[in-house]
Amino acid sequence: MTMRIILFSGKGGVGKTTVSASTALRLSQLGYRTIVVSLDPAHSLADAFDLTEEERFSAKGLPIKVADNLHIQEIDVQEDIDRYWGDVYRFLELLFSTTGLDEILSEELAILPGMEEVTSLLYINKYYKEGQYDVLVLDLPPTGESLRFVSMPVVLKWYMKKVFKTERLIMKVARPVAGRLADIPLPDDSYFKALENFYEKLKGVDEVLLDPETTTVRLVTNPEKMVVRESQRAFMYFNLFGMNVDAVIINRVMGDVPEDCEFLKKWKEVQKRYLEEIRSYFQPVPIFEVPLLEGEVVGLKRLEDLSRLVYGNRDPYEVFHREKPYEIISENDHYVVRIRAPFVTKEKVSLIKGEDSLVVRVGNFKSHIMLPRKIRDCEPGQAKIEDGHIVVRLFPSES
Ligand SMILES: Nc1ncnc2c1ncn2[C@@H]1O[C@H](COP(=O)(O)OP(=O)(O)OP(=O)(O)O)[C@@H](O)[C@H]1O
Ligand SMILES: [Mg+2]
Repeated sequence: MTMRIILFSGKGGVGKTTVSASTALRLSQLGYRTIVVSLDPAHSLADAFDLTEEERFSAKGLPIKVADNLHIQEIDVQEDIDRYWGDVYRFLELLFSTTGLDEILSEELAILPGMEEVTSLLYINKYYKEGQYDVLVLDLPPTGESLRFVSMPVVLKWYMKKVFKTERLIMKVARPVAGRLADIPLPDDSYFKALENFYEKLKGVDEVLLDPETTTVRLVTNPEKMVVRESQRAFMYFNLFGMNVDAVIINRVMGDVPEDCEFLKKWKEVQKRYLEEIRSYFQPVPIFEVPLLEGEVVGLKRLEDLSRLVYGNRDPYEVFHREKPYEIISENDHYVVRIRAPFVTKEKVSLIKGEDSLVVRVGNFKSHIMLPRKIRDCEPGQAKIEDGHIVVRLFPSES
């Protein structure tokens, strides 16, 4: 059986940890050997499973068994930095403190990948290679940071190349003068070993993340304006980086409210509006609605109840969606947006370009696409329908 990696991403507080935990529990009950990993320093994963302080403490960041087939792991990022990055960091620090090289290197340091992201990648690769679990569920940090996460494989490649180049540069510059300036440190073996070791541990993780049959992202959202906006942005980034979003989970959807309660009725109206918007933003990706429950969702029993509300009879292991809803590519002097629309026949395509988005309408089909910063000022040309896709070309404006 090929391993599945399911990433949960969403704005702070939408219910990522709760949904991750209940998904993992359901998987374990279906017989998959499952681990759910979180890098959240607040340790809410252990809270969701209602573990005691002592159980958590004695785990020391290693997996804890919470049910048959189910482990949870709360990773201490600081500890992991010491383990994997220590030597690299120590050398760079030493270098900056004793020489004037910081200007040359400052650019590289500025894009040094975030530790949370690197740590997640290390664990993804570790569990993928070791194969003792059938499914890895990862509870990602709130969206802002998740976006750094998706760019990681790309950034990392670039960074490693730079580091190796910089390293050679340092050796070239430093060697001849090192005799005279005895206080310029040269990288020692441990530094090179650490880099090598580190690179080895990350090798191949980008392919794992980009394989749509292995890794899928599930966006957790709530029917509220700010939350939906952020989910759209995340959706765009995951798409751009080629990761497969196979479900959008709308959490905390209100059920029936009493006729005489204006307060709740107002909330219900707000939710209704955003539920409709969410459908047009994310289609054709499947959307799962999860009701707002009475009280918080803590402990195995409540997590199990929630998992049934999320997935019904479906198996969370499944890849729920495969096609990329859209693609944005650059072509010579302009950009091309290709939107999958297999059912759309030749009809007039209407385009509305907002400040940061593009709304495309053909008959009943409506697609709302958030545009990357770089393309926001471009002007759309004519839209065309080409073999099951709506194709819109965007050109840089003259000014
Ligand atoms: N459908 C629901 N009904 C009722 N309570 C819920 C529901 N989903 C989540 N909760 C509760 O909401 C709170 C926040 O959920 P959770 O910790 O999962 O959010 P999160 O997105 O992981 O937050 P953070 O961004 O801080 O990590 C928890 O107390 C949880 O029990
Ligand atoms: Mg959380």
